[in-house]
Amino acid sequence: MFTPTLRILAAAMLLASASAGAQSTAPIKVGLMLPATGTYANLGQMIENGFKLYVAEKGGKIGGREIQYFKVDDESDPAKATDNVNKLIKRDQVDIVIGSVHSGVAMGMAKVARETNTLMIVPNAGADIITGAMCAKNIFRTSFTNWQPAYAMGVVAAKNGHKKAMTITWNYAAGTEAAKGFVDGFEKGGGKVGQNLTLPFPNVEFQALLTEIAAQKPDAVFAFFAGGGAVKFVKDYVASGLNKTIPLYGPGFLTDGTLEAQGEAAQGMTTTLHYADNLNTPRDNAFRLSFAKTYKTNADVYAVQGYDAAQLLEAGLNAAGGDIKNRDKVVDGMAKAQIDSPRGKFTLSAAHNPVQDIYLRQVKGNLNELKGVAIKALADPAKGCKM
Ligand code: BEZ
Repeated sequence: MFTPTLRILAAAMLLASASAGAQSTAPIKVGLMLPATGTYANLGQMIENGFKLYVAEKGGKIGGREIQYFKVDDESDPAKATDNVNKLIKRDQVDIVIGSVHSGVAMGMAKVARETNTLMIVPNAGADIITGAMCAKNIFRTSFTNWQPAYAMGVVAAKNGHKKAMTITWNYAAGTEAAKGFVDGFEKGGGKVGQNLTLPFPNVEFQALLTEIAAQKPDAVFAFFAGGGAVKFVKDYVASGLNKTIPLYGPGFLTDGTLEAQGEAAQGMTTTLHYADNLNTPRDNAFRLSFAKTYKTNADVYAVQGYDAAQLLEAGLNAAGGDIKNRDKVVDGMAKAQIDSPRGKFTLSAAHNPVQDIYLRQVKGNLNELKGVAIKALADPAKGCKM
């Protein structure tokens, strides 16, 4: 017969195995921290739609686990990022946070994710530092660094023969880092960049800055704006007549998800990005069809990044037999994943940022049409990343 001590031990073992069993069948709690209001609201919606589409395509389960969603509207407000991400981590006890669009918000999230060792995937925000000096084992990105597409645009603008450029951006990490990426590429190709004109995010009063561009007469302009701000900027640039003598370039956020609203103003614009609307691969065609059928709208780069965030999480779960608490295996599976993205297959750098082709695109109708590969397998320099 069992002694009392043995009975207690057996009961404890039973309890432990019961809770392990419950753990492995309970849904994975995914915290979506995205903008639902403001100039980036549509970008947040496309990311969420992309993520949910991938999960739905897998029958509602990835890595054998159902997904339960928790949501916070981050309002693209960095000042609220800590409180907002803590709602997901502390109140909702999520297993992973996915977010955000705005670099400043994502930096706030990444700080908390580092401190609390919470698993995090960035499905858009390009803040270089997240996969640079702030890089961490538990932090991943399925999008880009602000440097990547902007650097490629600089290289292309220099190849196009421009010598003297100006930049114009919102005055926060995405804008200043994109401007720096453009300078790196353009000056490497022999060009010279003058002033970086800026205005606060999400201000769209561009008139005074357009007047300044007209006065300085550069032979090309590079701009970083996205969402509602990009729609207004491209229209204002054309309305000012500057486009007749000074071509406007930018990372593809300037024309992605915005073409219907930009209409005639965007036609012919050249941008660089890790996605284009007519890649015409079987993988991308299937994704675009599925997305259009489900959401009655065309996919864009934000939808792709959300879709790939779900794929990356799946890679981690598969490596850990569905056990998200087995952090070493999850992280290892994610770090080594090859993502079969609609943009083309990609892997992650040692800093957990996509190493990816940057495409050259040109606007025709409502499409950012593929014109070629501006830079193949471009990796961010990941300055200061030590893991
Ligand atoms: C950013 O803040 O990092 C960002 C926002 C929109 C598009 C691209 C980058």
